[in-house]
Amino acid sequence: MLKVLIPREWDPNEQRVASSPDVIRRLRSRQLSCRVEKGAGVASGFSDADFADAGAELVNPSDPAIWGESDVVLSVGPINDQAPSLKPGALLIGQLQPHNNGALLDRLEQAQLSAISMELLPRISRAQAMDVLSSQANIAGYKAVLLAAASLNRFMPMLMTAAGTVQPAKVVVIGAGVAGLQAVATARRLGAVVSVSDVRAAAQEQVESLGARFIAPPEQGVPGETGGYAKQATKSFLEQQREELAEHLNQADVVICTAQVPGRPAPLLITTAMVEAMRPGAVIVDLAVVQGGNCEVSQSGTTINHGGVQVIGADRLPGSVAFHASSLYSRNLQSLLEVLVDQDGKLSLDAEDDLLAPSLISLNGTLRRTDLVPDRAAPQHEVTQ
Ligand code: NAI
Repeated sequence: MLKVLIPREWDPNEQRVASSPDVIRRLRSRQLSCRVEKGAGVASGFSDADFADAGAELVNPSDPAIWGESDVVLSVGPINDQAPSLKPGALLIGQLQPHNNGALLDRLEQAQLSAISMELLPRISRAQAMDVLSSQANIAGYKAVLLAAASLNRFMPMLMTAAGTVQPAKVVVIGAGVAGLQAVATARRLGAVVSVSDVRAAAQEQVESLGARFIAPPEQGVPGETGGYAKQATKSFLEQQREELAEHLNQADVVICTAQVPGRPAPLLITTAMVEAMRPGAVIVDLAVVQGGNCEVSQSGTTINHGGVQVIGADRLPGSVAFHASSLYSRNLQSLLEVLVDQDGKLSLDAEDDLLAPSLISLNGTLRRTDLVPDRAAPQHEVTQ
């Protein structure tokens, strides 16, 4: 029987867990043996008893014997250097962050491990149910608006009271992808008036269907798109876009930044001068801060008061909604496992499969995505005698 291990996450700030008890039940029904390290789900609201009821075996964290006999390890974040050894051929599945991570590739190669990095799954329709970037960005878009509302010194909705009428907050959302569209929907539910900037023509209809106004990009030099993603814009296009955005930002109470071009630094769309021209009391939440930020002032994990404007460098938002973030993440993993494991519980990794071609970074220690670490030197293998 295939042995699946759900460890405690190594990052002390990680609140999520890679499997919910519901998903454990489904995996058990596919003849998989599931082991969960004690306490793994506590920060997400899942107790050890919940996992035991679902049919998991509770095991001590980092037990070398348990790790040594596991066939599959499911994680949220990357595996830590201190994690116990796995047997050759064992499979890691998680957001392994392999970009420029030579140490990870060395470890996979030396220990002859297989690894699937969930953030590298292609965005094709077959992979939708496995798309962790979408399930987690959706949560981030929602939470960003709540953070802004909680920091704002105004109401979000219009209110008619005996003491007078309160106008609704004006929200500008930059980037209408997964996080952006959820931010639009959440801000609309709170009663705000929402305007949205994006460079993809297809975004207009989606934005308008949510009851928001589309801010059209500058006409000259629109970057175009590939596979549903915007291409990188030129400097002069971004300059023009900033000029046009400035007039919307001057009126805004809340700005939610979600613009990204995959594999590139986030486009800079709000300069320090633009922040300084906003009205005091306004709030900017920058979700793109991990890629350098759409706002020049934002800093990861920090809130800055810049001339009365609060700039929230919002990283790790999915973890702040840990129960649902874990539930959705684990369903993403379950969907992938249902492709990889047949009804009899046998695992097979077809490197030619569309799903695995970009995401299977190592197959039994043979590295398949060395392009992720361009400067990597060949590892120094230890000689054992
Ligand atoms: P996505 O790729 O679905 O959407 C990005 C959008 O930005 C696209 O619609 C694209 O057309 C647009 N865009 C690109 N250049 C633009 C420009 N110059 N002006 C206006 N729009 C532009 O990305 P997704 O999944 O929505 O993620 C958005 C951001 O949120 C990313 O930076 C991601 O890393 C971040 N994120 C942050 C989290 C956190 O906790 N802080 C959690 C999850 C995602």
